[in-house]
Amino acid sequence: MKKNIIYNENCKETFTKIEDKYIDGIITSPPYNINIKRSDCYYNNGYSELDGLSQNNYLEVRTNEFKEFSRIIKDDGVICYNISYSKENPILPTLLVSKIHEELDLTIADIICWKKPHAIPFQTSSTKLSRVTELIYIFVKKDRLHTFKTNKEVSKINEKTGQKFYKNYVNFIEAKNNDGYKCQLKASYSQDLCNQLINIYFPEGSLIYDPFTGIGTTQLSCIENYCDFIGSEITTEHYNIAVERVEEKRKEKEDENDLC
Ligand SMILES: C[S@@+](CC[C@H](N)C(=O)[O-])C[C@H]1O[C@@H](n2cnc3c(N)ncnc32)[C@H](O)[C@@H]1O
Repeated sequence: MKKNIIYNENCKETFTKIEDKYIDGIITSPPYNINIKRSDCYYNNGYSELDGLSQNNYLEVRTNEFKEFSRIIKDDGVICYNISYSKENPILPTLLVSKIHEELDLTIADIICWKKPHAIPFQTSSTKLSRVTELIYIFVKKDRLHTFKTNKEVSKINEKTGQKFYKNYVNFIEAKNNDGYKCQLKASYSQDLCNQLINIYFPEGSLIYDPFTGIGTTQLSCIENYCDFIGSEITTEHYNIAVERVEEKRKEKEDENDLC
């Protein structure tokens, strides 16, 4: 399969093209199944048959995707899954994580808290908190919980025992909400966030897949960090923006390398 390409299609289609154990990992953020009428919300733009599912259907669709993730990642691969909750159904991500752990060969290795500079103010809710954090669930194969691949640098080795000590990596990332790109998609994350995840989990040359590419944020970070990528994006408008941004980023990176 070709690398460094984004497919304008449902990720279910892309899965059929990806061989077993082909990719090093996934960085992604799925639709959150927010089913409310809001003109400023991408969930109601009719882009996907995955809008407004019942709780059980949503859990089924996402779990089936995880079955494919498990098939296509290498045994020591890592899945960085950013999912937040809607104010209509805050328990949904927790149910999903639990279902995946119960039913599949994947489990949680870590949970990273992403702190954004700007909160989502729930000023219309008399009970819910304004949210300035989201979680990134780090999934790995259960039998590789202690041996999955990361990019953690060794800071020193004990001469007597040979024990390795690593640079300090913490489960708290401060990163921008998004890249500031203005378009109909209001749920993009930031290269700032992806760069920090790649720095922890993916050495140079890793192949990273984003099944919900949006406007290509994961791919831009892959280029920045000398990783390869594959992407899927169902909405043509988002796909076109992603392809344009990737082209610009490639040129920018080539120019930067020419100057060195
Ligand atoms: C939360 S957004 C991801 C935004 C992305 N992280 C970014 O920074 O641009 C989810 C994206 O998944 C797309 N999408 C939803 N269902 C999909 C599917 N089954 N296959 C591929 N893309 C899908 C939506 O069109 C939307 O662009």
